[in-house]
Amino acid sequence: MRAWQISSFGIDSLEFVERPTPALGPRGVLIAVRAVSLNFRDLMIVKGLYNPKMRLPRIPCSDGAGEVVEVGPGVTAWKPGDRVAGIFMQAWLDGPLSAERTRGALGGDTDGMLADFVVLNQDGLVEIPEHLSFQEASTLPCAAVTAWNALAAGDVKPGTTVLIQGTGGVSIFALQFARLRGARVIGISSSYEKLERASSMGLDAGLNYRDNPEWDRWALDQTGGEGVDLVVEVGGSGTLPRSLKAVRYGGMVAQVGVLSGAAEPLAIPTILHKMARIHGIYVGSRSDFIQMNRAVTLAQLRPVGEEFHWTQAREVLEKMEEGSHFGKLVLTVG
Ligand SMILES: NC(=O)c1ccc[n+]([C@@H]2O[C@H](COP(=O)([O-])OP(=O)(O)OC[C@H]3O[C@@H](n4cnc5c(N)ncnc54)[C@H](OP(=O)(O)O)[C@@H]3O)[C@@H](O)[C@H]2O)c1
Repeated sequence: MRAWQISSFGIDSLEFVERPTPALGPRGVLIAVRAVSLNFRDLMIVKGLYNPKMRLPRIPCSDGAGEVVEVGPGVTAWKPGDRVAGIFMQAWLDGPLSAERTRGALGGDTDGMLADFVVLNQDGLVEIPEHLSFQEASTLPCAAVTAWNALAAGDVKPGTTVLIQGTGGVSIFALQFARLRGARVIGISSSYEKLERASSMGLDAGLNYRDNPEWDRWALDQTGGEGVDLVVEVGGSGTLPRSLKAVRYGGMVAQVGVLSGAAEPLAIPTILHKMARIHGIYVGSRSDFIQMNRAVTLAQLRPVGEEFHWTQAREVLEKMEEGSHFGKLVLTVG
C-alpha cells in the first residue's frame, strides 16, 4: 500500500512511502480509502505539537472514507462494497467517555487514514450517508461529530442563539447543525468574504474580529444585552475570556479547540457570577456518529469544503496553517 508517513516531525518531513498492507485479522476490515479530510489536530500532529512523544513512524489523519474490499472470517457487520468511514476513537463505541475509551484515536495513538488501504476493526466503522460522495463523507468523523455534540451539550433548540468562531471545519458544521435545530447563529471571522459565504449558508449576523476585536460586546448587542446561549469555543486561550463575557447568565461555553493556544488563567469571577457552564467536548462515540448521520441523511445536508489530490498533502497542510480555507480541506486518495 501507499501512505503518507510521519518519520520525523514537520510538514516538509512528511514522506510518501510504500508499506506492507496490515494483516487482516479475524475481526479486521480492509478498506480502500477514497478520501481523507484534514483537521487542525492533524496539522499539530504532523508538526509534533500535539504529542511530541508520539511513536514514529505514524500515518497521520483521523478522518477518511472508503469502500470495504475484504473482511476477516469473524466479521459479520460488513461486506465488500460497503461504503464506510472510520470512527475517531476506535474504542469509544457508546456511553460516556472513559480513559480507556480515549485510547486508539486514529492518526495519533494508532496509524491513521492517509493511506490507500487501511485495516480497521469491524466495530471502528460506520456506514456513510448514501447521498454523500466519499470526499464529503470523509469530513464527518471528527469535525462534524464534534460540532454535533457541542450543540447537543448546549441543548440547542429553535430560538437559541449560538455563537461560532471562525469558518473552519468545526465551526461550519456547527453553523449547519445549529440551523437544522432552528437556532439563530452569529459568528466571527477574520474575513469579510468568508462572513458573506457563511451568511449565504444561514449565518444571521457576522463580525470581522480583526477589525472589531471586542466581539464579546457585539455578541451582547446582538442579544439585547443578554448574551448568547452557547459559544462553540474553538479559539482556546485567545478567545475564552471573551467567550465567557459573550455567554448569557446560565449559558454554556462548549470548549472544543485551542487554535490560539491552550493555557489561560481563567476569569473565575465571570464564570461563577454568570453561573456559566464550560463543557469540554472530545469528538464523540460511534453511536453519536450514527445518530448524526441519520440527521445528515434526513436533511440531505452536504458538508462544505475544497478538494485536492492526496499527492498535495503537504501543500494542503500548509494551506490549513495559513487559515485561508472555509469549511473542510479534503484529499482524494488513489
Ligand atoms: N475537542 C475536540 O474533540 C475537537 C475536535 C475537532 C477540532 N478540535 C479543535 O478545534 C479547533 C478548530 O478545529 P478545525 O479543524 O475546525 O480547524 P480549522 O478548520 O483549521 O479552522 C481554523 C479557522 O478558525 C478560525 N480561527 C483561527 N484562530 C481564531 C481565533 N483566534 N478566533 C476566532 N477564530 C479563529 C479561522 O477562521 P476565519 O479565517 O474565518 O477567522 C481559521 O481559518 C482546533 O483547535 C482543533 O484542534 C477539537
